[in-house]
Amino acid sequence: MENATRESRGPGGAGNLDQEMARIAVRRLSLTDFRSYPFVRLETDSRPVVLTGPNGAGKTNLLEALSYLVPGRGLRRAPLSEVGRVDAKGANDGGGPRAWAVAARIERGGTEMDVGTGYLQNGAENERARRVIKLDGAPAKNQAELGRQISAQWLTPQMDRLFLEGPSARRRFIDRLILGFDPDHAGPLNAYEQSLRNRNRLLRDGASDQDWFNSVEDSLASHGVAVAVRRRDAIARLGPLAARGLGPFPGAIISLGGALEDWLAAGPALAAEDQMRQALSVSRQKDAAANGTSIGPHRSDVLVSHSDAGLEAARCSTGEQKALLVSIVFAAAQLQAEDRGHSPLLLLDEVAAHLDDTRRDALFELVGELGAQAWMTGTDEAVFEALGDAAQRFRIDNGRVTPVD
Ligand SMILES: Nc1ncnc2c1ncn2[C@@H]1O[C@H](COP(=O)(O)OP(=O)(O)OP(=O)(O)O)[C@@H](O)[C@H]1O
Ligand SMILES: [Mg+2]
Repeated sequence: MENATRESRGPGGAGNLDQEMARIAVRRLSLTDFRSYPFVRLETDSRPVVLTGPNGAGKTNLLEALSYLVPGRGLRRAPLSEVGRVDAKGANDGGGPRAWAVAARIERGGTEMDVGTGYLQNGAENERARRVIKLDGAPAKNQAELGRQISAQWLTPQMDRLFLEGPSARRRFIDRLILGFDPDHAGPLNAYEQSLRNRNRLLRDGASDQDWFNSVEDSLASHGVAVAVRRRDAIARLGPLAARGLGPFPGAIISLGGALEDWLAAGPALAAEDQMRQALSVSRQKDAAANGTSIGPHRSDVLVSHSDAGLEAARCSTGEQKALLVSIVFAAAQLQAEDRGHSPLLLLDEVAAHLDDTRRDALFELVGELGAQAWMTGTDEAVFEALGDAAQRFRIDNGRVTPVD
């Protein structure tokens, strides 16, 4: 199907994609014991979806459920054991893990697929929480398998602070964008994190076995450089698209900063790997004292600035920062549509917040042009009027989800 999709594409990329073939769309969704929902099920067509309702109705919960249809820790990055529903009396909140499930029928490139995921409480009490994933009823080997089938990008009110806070959220943001068009980025990322945990454990335990350190640092350096190279290559492709801007959304100039990035800019990857290995080796004492590894792609930063004003994003206005995020996310979605033949699910929580009328309507147009199934939430239905028949609407009230004619 992938090939058929690719062959149906015209020469100009996303704009010429056959719209019916070109998106990932949820056609049916059900949640069981997920956050505020004991059970809910909705049927959707492949158009964008608008969810409106009062504060606390369960709009973000629904987007969060969708975010578990792709690899990673979900849109709220919550511990899996906290996602399960606590009933009104707190009766099932005995402190133990609470099971929950999300099931969806997904349409992609003319075929349909069932995806199920959730958290089951049949493991030993102190076993690391694991997400169960099933594709068409069969257990998936790992999350990467899921990532090769489905992808999603999201914008949430929490991300309004992305440029103001520390670099870790920006790294996660950029890695998630990259996973959209390069699902295999997950491999080196996970391997790197595993090596990092190993080294940090040695540091914490005050280990003195040099061979052990050398071997852990060997893999840390090779996975670390692999992550940094993938990020650099991805930004080299995403950067020009994001820098163009989209209508009233300003161009976003993206760059990566850090010691490893400097080494990679100055010489070949193998040399950077040597430099990283050396740096790790001489920093053991310092890192043990500081309780963590001080060098590597987990210390890099993602720098963004406004292409017109030249200002770094942190100094732009709240609305401008949101507009920069829109430019970046849509650039990544376009790149994915070109690379993989389909645009991702877009989860746009409180999408109108901080955007003026012009930008809000332009955003709806972008969603239409991309042909993506965007799930958009808000408290005010009037905000979405401009979408007309281009979107389907649901009203959420007290955990009840009702289609609006
Ligand atoms: N594990 C849980 N069990 C039961 N209820 C939960 C759980 N976690 C969160 N909730 C509840 O879910 C409700 C809905 O939250 P949600 O964030 O989806 O609201 P919302 O519609 O997005 O509201 P807003 O417009 O304020 O963003 C909240 O009242 C919250 O207390
Ligand atoms: Mg919300």
